[in-house]
Amino acid sequence: MSRIVIVSNRTPGREPAAGGLAVALRKVLDEREGFWFGWSGKLSEDPAREARFENIDGLDIAQIDLTRDDYHAYYSGFSNSILWPSFHLRLDLANIESHWYEGYRRVNQQFAKALMAVLRPDDVVWVHDYHLIPLATELRNLGARNRIGFYLHIPFPTTDALYAIPHHGELMHDLSRYDLIGMQAQRDVAAFTEFAEHQAPSTFGAHTQPVDFSRTEIEVFPIGSEPDAFARMSTSPAATKMVKRMERVLGNQRLVLGVDRLDYSKGLPQRVEAYEKLLANNARLRRGVHFLQVAPPSRDTIKQYQETSDALDAMCGRVMGRFAEPDWQPLTYVKRAYGQPSLAGLYRLSRAALVTPLRDGMNLVAHEFVGAQNPDDPGVLVLSRFAGAAEIFPDALLVNPFDTDETAEALRMALDMPLNERRQRWTALMEAARHHNVNDWALRFLDRLAPGATATSSSRDI
Ligand code: G6P
Repeated sequence: MSRIVIVSNRTPGREPAAGGLAVALRKVLDEREGFWFGWSGKLSEDPAREARFENIDGLDIAQIDLTRDDYHAYYSGFSNSILWPSFHLRLDLANIESHWYEGYRRVNQQFAKALMAVLRPDDVVWVHDYHLIPLATELRNLGARNRIGFYLHIPFPTTDALYAIPHHGELMHDLSRYDLIGMQAQRDVAAFTEFAEHQAPSTFGAHTQPVDFSRTEIEVFPIGSEPDAFARMSTSPAATKMVKRMERVLGNQRLVLGVDRLDYSKGLPQRVEAYEKLLANNARLRRGVHFLQVAPPSRDTIKQYQETSDALDAMCGRVMGRFAEPDWQPLTYVKRAYGQPSLAGLYRLSRAALVTPLRDGMNLVAHEFVGAQNPDDPGVLVLSRFAGAAEIFPDALLVNPFDTDETAEALRMALDMPLNERRQRWTALMEAARHHNVNDWALRFLDRLAPGATATSSSRDI
């Protein structure tokens, strides 16, 4: 069987907390030969160009270092100040400094060179996310004829937003060098197909050839979590410890929970405004409800992230000033990360979760919240229509996160929802979360990418 090579910007050793993706891909690498390749997280003025192999907790990881300038242009610059906002349809927050493209390209070339030196001809390569769109081109320029797949964890943009990205023609040409492209949701494949069918023929990559996706297969592979592992974790000693701490503070108040990286795509100020409206419109709920927002800081050297953090501070302060009393606080807001067991405990304890991003690839908090519920007394998921998860979870209370009145009303419904309806909805959600678990997701993608795999009726050859 061919080896599997996973490539991503962040390698598992550098994850703030072991996420579902890392756990699932680690399982794949436990059963198949292979390794994980990526950036070490280290900056050096004169980095070695060869990958360093390390075995971290039984996983083979190959890493390279980057220079500070390359890191800045590739990660903070092109990836997170141009691609991330554009793909999330936030052109107002994009910082179009087209020179960052050179650093982005250069780092992808460095990845390709270091990887090529250790790649075998029959290895299957699986590249993850927007940091590494050019990797297949760069590998192929060095002679790689391997099967190479790409998975986009974030939404695919509309054609207009794509056109705002410098060098979008080259990037689309880069995507056409993959054998298989996986996306989170139907909506993403629809946006991609619109581009591939109508715009690609008149879009030119670096080589004055029109972009041609005829050799690339594109398919929806919605990522998931391990819901049953979350169920077990939610009653583990670490989870129970967190639950006991919270129960002491909460007393009779019902908990409403939000858990998100502190990112403008997550709609945090709008969410706090919706909570404010809930309290304003339903005086009976005051003192009986408490909103906890967990928001670990993210990419905080980028100005737009600092501004989001400030906006959230201001919103939370406003709600505190308006509704808090000497002996009651409407909300708690923590800017730090918690381990998965603590989060699982919080998910289980909460009566409702607010998962209301303005736009999101999938959103795994939704999946993990569902997994962690107590089947006898489950909480309610209030979910943005603009998260990929909305395609998986039609039994959540779906909201338009830009409409804070609608979100406030959905939260009121969640808090007033009778037990039998909560159970019915949760049963359907849990079934969907199990059906879309992350282990099957990884195996399905790799199955389609395997040499000799043939197209299914749901896949799309363009
Ligand atoms: C999103 C992206 C991932 C990224 C993660 C954390 O989920 O799709 O590729 O790793 O955010 O962001 P960071 O910039 O800290 O890696």
